[in-house]
Amino acid sequence: MRHLLSPLDFSVEELDKLLDLAGDIERNPDKYKEACKGKKIATLFYEPSTRTRLSFEAAMLNLGGSVLGFSSASSSSAAKGESVSDTIRMISCYADICAMRHPKEGAPLVASSKSRIPVINAGDGGHQHPTQTLTDLLTIRSLKGRLSNLTIGLCGDLKFGRTVHSLIEALVRYTDVKFVLISPDELRVPEYIREDVLAAHNIPFKEVRKLEDALPELDILYMTRVQRERFFNEEDYVRLKDSYILDKQKMTYAPDDMLILHPLPRVNEISVEVDDDPRAAYFRQVQYGVYVRMALILTLLETDLDSL
Ligand code: CP
Repeated sequence: MRHLLSPLDFSVEELDKLLDLAGDIERNPDKYKEACKGKKIATLFYEPSTRTRLSFEAAMLNLGGSVLGFSSASSSSAAKGESVSDTIRMISCYADICAMRHPKEGAPLVASSKSRIPVINAGDGGHQHPTQTLTDLLTIRSLKGRLSNLTIGLCGDLKFGRTVHSLIEALVRYTDVKFVLISPDELRVPEYIREDVLAAHNIPFKEVRKLEDALPELDILYMTRVQRERFFNEEDYVRLKDSYILDKQKMTYAPDDMLILHPLPRVNEISVEVDDDPRAAYFRQVQYGVYVRMALILTLLETDLDSL
């Protein structure tokens, strides 16, 4: 039995296979519409979510399966003090696979150690968000045609933004990838990512403060929200929340074929006037999230694809 706790749980070859499967699902949805008939996914969300929880549920429903779960800690027995370890033992009796989001880093890892079903990390604190990374990889590969030979700008809250941490870890395994890290000093990428991931893989990267300075050289601009829920005080959040606002005027510095990605939700960091720009790919990214989660469910449930 396999879990997905970090993007590194799949080799590059396995990721390629997963993305290929997601591509086939996009082209031939009918082929997969009963692939998980009789199977159930439990979505265990101890933190708010729109996309991740609903895209897992849509993915399982598209595969002919069923869904159950909770959308907040307060509506589960966590509110009475039940541990993640005990909860997953129950869920293993009710479902075939589960997706867990939790504010504590490592909670899905703890769950996986007690689970009899595959556990998918749907975001753990400021740590990792591997299925967002699968979504991002599929979006980039589908729209750019490659995952190598890319200059990627990551902008905003690079300290607490778990999607950024997971995406960097996944992309350093491809060739000729460079990063431009755009953030205020207080929200720089954590040292362990700079040292143990980027420097350790000899990946070229630079840190800049001004978005306009980075834009001309980018193939991908990955915007992020300042993560209010991870700040220790509101004053710091208010001071930093509008550090970057991508608008039409700033987009004049960007190449014609640059793509704008964002894991969403957005607050102010991309002005709505940018939504109609053909380079804005963040809503298309959401659709790829459903295909890739369908592929992930099929893979972790070891579905016999040849029989479909
Ligand atoms: N991208 C993402 O994780 O969105 P949600 O918080 O809405 O799930």
